[in-house]
Amino acid sequence: MKNIRIRKANKKDINEILNLLYQLQRPRPKTDAEGLAFRKRIHRYLDEKDKRILVAEQNSKVIGLVSMMFLLRLNRTKLELYIPELIVSENHRGLGIGKLLIESCISMAKKKKCFRIRLESGNQREGAHRFYKKIGFEQSALSYTRTIE
Ligand SMILES: CC(C)(COP(=O)(O)OP(=O)(O)OC[C@H]1O[C@@H](n2cnc3c(N)ncnc32)[C@H](O)[C@@H]1OP(=O)(O)O)[C@@H](O)C(=O)NCCC(=O)NCCS
Repeated sequence: MKNIRIRKANKKDINEILNLLYQLQRPRPKTDAEGLAFRKRIHRYLDEKDKRILVAEQNSKVIGLVSMMFLLRLNRTKLELYIPELIVSENHRGLGIGKLLIESCISMAKKKKCFRIRLESGNQREGAHRFYKKIGFEQSALSYTRTIE
């Protein structure tokens, strides 16, 4: 694992961020207007104090990302660090990069004095479930969703 650097994402990374999200099967824009809206959303996300995106880069090429949200919970004095997205590009998996990104989240959670880190992972992502278990996460809940058209 040579020349890997984890850093805060910036506005120049928006194309790479979108490409990684597509690898996570996130929707591609159906129109140019939707494409522009996605880009603006990421732009705003990068500016918001309660959110953070980190990227992993190798020789200046972005090869992974993790996003974070710092959530207020009603009955806690401390924040919860929620991870909506974690993705390492297909050709770079199994090299320790996912673990490095999560370790950066753990450092951030400690710095912000969060009480825990939480994330969701689709039922079909069995590899990711093994990864989370391997790096010390516990499976602690089921997730329920209802699509609104
Ligand atoms: C899940 C994912 C982020 C893991 O990142 P990665 O860089 O490939 O994982 P790492 O190389 O850092 O692995 C860390 C440890 O987990 C283990 N691990 C990683 N993927 C694994 C898998 N599919 N099955 C079993 N163990 C796995 C590694 O062997 C390693 O163990 P070690 O520390 O004993 O060597 C990456 O595979 C990925 O992007 N997958 C597709 C998208 C996805 O599912 N994201 C998660 C959404 S919830």
